[in-house]
Amino acid sequence: MCGIVGYNGKDSVTDQLLESLELLEYRGYDSAGLATLNETTGKVKLRKCAGRVADLRKICQNDKKISTCGIGHTRWATHGGVNDVNAHPHRSGDVLLVHNGIVENYEELIDHFMLHKELKSQTDTEVVAAVLNKFYQGDPHEAICKTVKYLKGTFALVVMFVDQPEVIYAIRNVSPIVAACNQNGTMLASDVAALGSTADKYMVIPEYVITELHKNEIKLFDLKGKPVEPHFMDIDWDTTRDGKGKYPFYMEKEIMEQPDVIKATMEERIIDGKIDLSGDGVPDEVLRDCERICVVACGTAMHAGLVAKSLVQSRLGMHMNVEYASEFMYGNPVIDEKTLVLAISQSGETIDTLEALKYARKKGAKSIAVINVKGSSIARESDYVMYTSAGPEIAVASTKAYTTQLAVLFLLVGRMAKVRGVFDDGAEKAYLENMVQAPDKMQQVLDQKHDIHKIAREMLDAKDAYMLGRGLDYSILLEGALKLKEVSYIHTEAYASGELKHGTIALITENTPVVATVTQEKLKDKELSNIREVQSRGASVVLFVKDGIDLADAEYADVFTLPAMMDEFMVFPASAALQLLAYYVSMDKGLDVDKPRNLAKVVTVE
Ligand code: G6P
Repeated sequence: MCGIVGYNGKDSVTDQLLESLELLEYRGYDSAGLATLNETTGKVKLRKCAGRVADLRKICQNDKKISTCGIGHTRWATHGGVNDVNAHPHRSGDVLLVHNGIVENYEELIDHFMLHKELKSQTDTEVVAAVLNKFYQGDPHEAICKTVKYLKGTFALVVMFVDQPEVIYAIRNVSPIVAACNQNGTMLASDVAALGSTADKYMVIPEYVITELHKNEIKLFDLKGKPVEPHFMDIDWDTTRDGKGKYPFYMEKEIMEQPDVIKATMEERIIDGKIDLSGDGVPDEVLRDCERICVVACGTAMHAGLVAKSLVQSRLGMHMNVEYASEFMYGNPVIDEKTLVLAISQSGETIDTLEALKYARKKGAKSIAVINVKGSSIARESDYVMYTSAGPEIAVASTKAYTTQLAVLFLLVGRMAKVRGVFDDGAEKAYLENMVQAPDKMQQVLDQKHDIHKIAREMLDAKDAYMLGRGLDYSILLEGALKLKEVSYIHTEAYASGELKHGTIALITENTPVVATVTQEKLKDKELSNIREVQSRGASVVLFVKDGIDLADAEYADVFTLPAMMDEFMVFPASAALQLLAYYVSMDKGLDVDKPRNLAKVVTVE
């Protein structure tokens, strides 16, 4: 959460920073700010405001864009409300600072350094700026070293000292900072997406290493002042944005891209009609020798894990846990060297997932990360990585990242079945035949988006909605409900339909919207009978049903027929339908679909 950026080069820094902040805005969009330092005059300009980067752009509109060194920030509030004063950068004396992370002991620091009178904001960040300023006697390294020894928590700090106009300093613990150098100057940012399309190499700043950004080089030093060799990597991740194209929102564009990105995700992993994970470097022994599988993930990624759990248990007959990464450690999980941990994450930066993965590895588990963003922290921390080919996902609500995660997980389970002797060649072939149909089946749903739009129009006034399903349908609906609530602000809960009578049914009244998926042949009778129970109590039921399932002569508010696949694969067409439903409700309510309130796409605080 929070995006930070720094630029030192030949070009106008204001333009560079605004551009990068726009690319980082999905990390938080409560407020934005930038500070520039003119090397010739030594003058500092600090601009910040509550609101979006677009609001900051307006403020900077008439500025003379002459400075070429500066830092910027887009905020997701943790400490202190959303207002101009709490926006970053913060200034204390000679120090200008932007921060991503949480400094847990900021109150102790206020007492220890007697900062009560000088602080203007309610942020932990201003406290760090004030401590740095206390220690600053003209030597940035000394001040940074002394300050970070006092900090507890996670931080990525980017600092300018007013009397050092040629250099930007940075240091981090856990929270990421990447840096790159090109012919126009040097840059650093919270993630590769903001480095600009001209850089083809980047480095991840190591933890507790002081980074100096000069006009034409990046220097690294450990806390004792010894130089650290930078380790550059290729940017093989497409950082260019081709915009929303013909779509009004990224969410729609990303939903529509799914057939292509799923194909791309499968392409290099299906060779001569067989699942081949050699390109990912995942050894068969890891898949064969594990006795337990455990998923750690958050949000949508966790829901992808739940779908994989059904598959693992039905196909492999293996025990699998799916845990909220944020709760994982507190449940004293049983993890050992026979456990295979799957860390699933679009961004690869979710701090809870990262910490859960580190914990599991310390206990001896082997790990595979399923990640979208190349080179991200979780990818680096894991023994093996399987990348999804979703490409940049900009809308905060995850869509194509989810279904490409599913594609990877389905292939991983397929390969496990093969190496563990569950699949012979024939079974693998049948499994893959279904898998490769997934993009086309999704496309069939996407082609009928106008029908789903009509269904969505009926839900615009709802305050609450429920989603009901059993087994795999329940897992599918957990994600469907998350999608609807996060973009439409309709309070939506998914329930296992068998649990209805144990409480939830008390919430059903006349015209309560209930969305159900009926995609599992084995469960359909029970699911349909649970649906009748809510209908008898007045619910208005929208049904997404697998083609071929007989609904007898029952009547529903709306029925959408999903193209048929083998039950386990129905998650693909069903998810596309539920994503479109959420999207259209949000759009028709006139909401900012891509940036729902209070959310951030990359969650780097616990
Ligand atoms: C945030 C995003 C979700 C995402 C979750 C986990 O809440 O808004 O879309 O599912 O974080 O993020 P990750 O990057 O680890 O998949």
